[in-house]
Amino acid sequence: MNNHHWQQRKEAVIAKGMGNLAPVYITQAENMTLSDVEGNQYIDFASGIAVTNTGHSHPQIIDAVKRQLDQFSHTCAMVTPYPAFVELAEQLVERTPGSSAKKAIFLTTGAEAVENAVKIARAKTGRSGVIAFKGGFHGRTNLCMGLTGKVTPYKAGFGPFPNEIYHLPFPNACHGISQAHSLNALEDLFASTIEPARVAAIIFEPVQGEGGFYPAPPAWAQAIRRLCDQHGIVLICDEIQTGFARTGKLFATEYLGIEPDLMTLAKGIAGGFPLSAVVGKAEIMDAASPGGLGGTYAGSPLGCVAGLEVLKIIDKDNLCDKASAIGEVMKQQLEALQQSFPEITDIRQLGAMVAIELSDPVTHKPLSDLTKQLVQSAPQAGLILLSCGVRGNVIRLLPPLTADMDEIRLGLNRLRVLFEQLVK
Ligand SMILES: Cc1ncc(COP(=O)(O)O)c(C=O)c1O
Repeated sequence: MNNHHWQQRKEAVIAKGMGNLAPVYITQAENMTLSDVEGNQYIDFASGIAVTNTGHSHPQIIDAVKRQLDQFSHTCAMVTPYPAFVELAEQLVERTPGSSAKKAIFLTTGAEAVENAVKIARAKTGRSGVIAFKGGFHGRTNLCMGLTGKVTPYKAGFGPFPNEIYHLPFPNACHGISQAHSLNALEDLFASTIEPARVAAIIFEPVQGEGGFYPAPPAWAQAIRRLCDQHGIVLICDEIQTGFARTGKLFATEYLGIEPDLMTLAKGIAGGFPLSAVVGKAEIMDAASPGGLGGTYAGSPLGCVAGLEVLKIIDKDNLCDKASAIGEVMKQQLEALQQSFPEITDIRQLGAMVAIELSDPVTHKPLSDLTKQLVQSAPQAGLILLSCGVRGNVIRLLPPLTADMDEIRLGLNRLRVLFEQLVK
């Protein structure tokens, strides 16, 4: 049965809202290579959306999970916990930025981590308001949709959203939004819409992911940190896409020179097993009463043992430095591509979080149709690509950090072939 057949069966039974970028049905995945039901192979520049930073089917992770499966797969950590649940929390409170005493909780998805971070901030402060940023993405649950600053496809048609959420411009040099503009908008919000004493939390991504791979400037993040300190607001860094060595540091917040009060983690945390976490200052994390946080599958033993191996692999294989090396190689090759294709109007790279923005070189109009064509045609060229950006005109490249450099180059050569075919 071929990919087309499976796609037809999928469309018959899976609701349209759960779309798939590539009509490719996978039978095997190893490090950076996906194989499909037809025997085709693909270079994976998606990593399951920044999840398999340690590569697909890493033997060390698979062995640990198999050993765990031989023991037990579920007890519910809120009923009878297990050592890996504690051990992974010990590792995370030690390794997340800042010197404060920290605590953690585990959940299952990124959206749940964000939901819980906001719950904790509200429990601590007794306040309701939350400030987020345009272009930010925080998940698909109702609160997270409310926090997200990108309408299509995440919010359109899904309202009403929770109240007491306010969106501000995110500084973005590429689109002429200065740090001062963003900070002035915050001061204006405090003066015009909600007093700081009613704001529980400010949440931002150290590098906006879905929004288009725009990094937060350190001076801006430090100013936000100062304002949070001044007004007793909890600062939440959403590291769900940026964490676990992706950007060349274990956490991208390390580039900003701040200690967040809370961090949300997911995706790369467990190499493909569903696990997420909130890690933060113990005095804030302890604000919710017992039973107020958690979930049936929160901190699954399979995810926790996988998470412990992910950290060992990041250390042993020095994946932070590897991410930076991969990013440099990609940037060089993309700059060469840009020489041939001026439609690439910006290249952004922090570690192995790499993106190209596609716009008309003369009118600067976003080329979202071209972006879509490139992503949709990529599988035919043996490549899996992802798009992002509020205007849908950014291609993001997220290879595993365990990738072979020659394969990275080969993947980028395939991207060049796609440009040659599609850009007239
Ligand atoms: C920054 C960020 N926050 C939250 C989420 C939501 O995570 P999940 O899809 O696991 O709920 C994502 C997912 O892409 C994300 O990139």
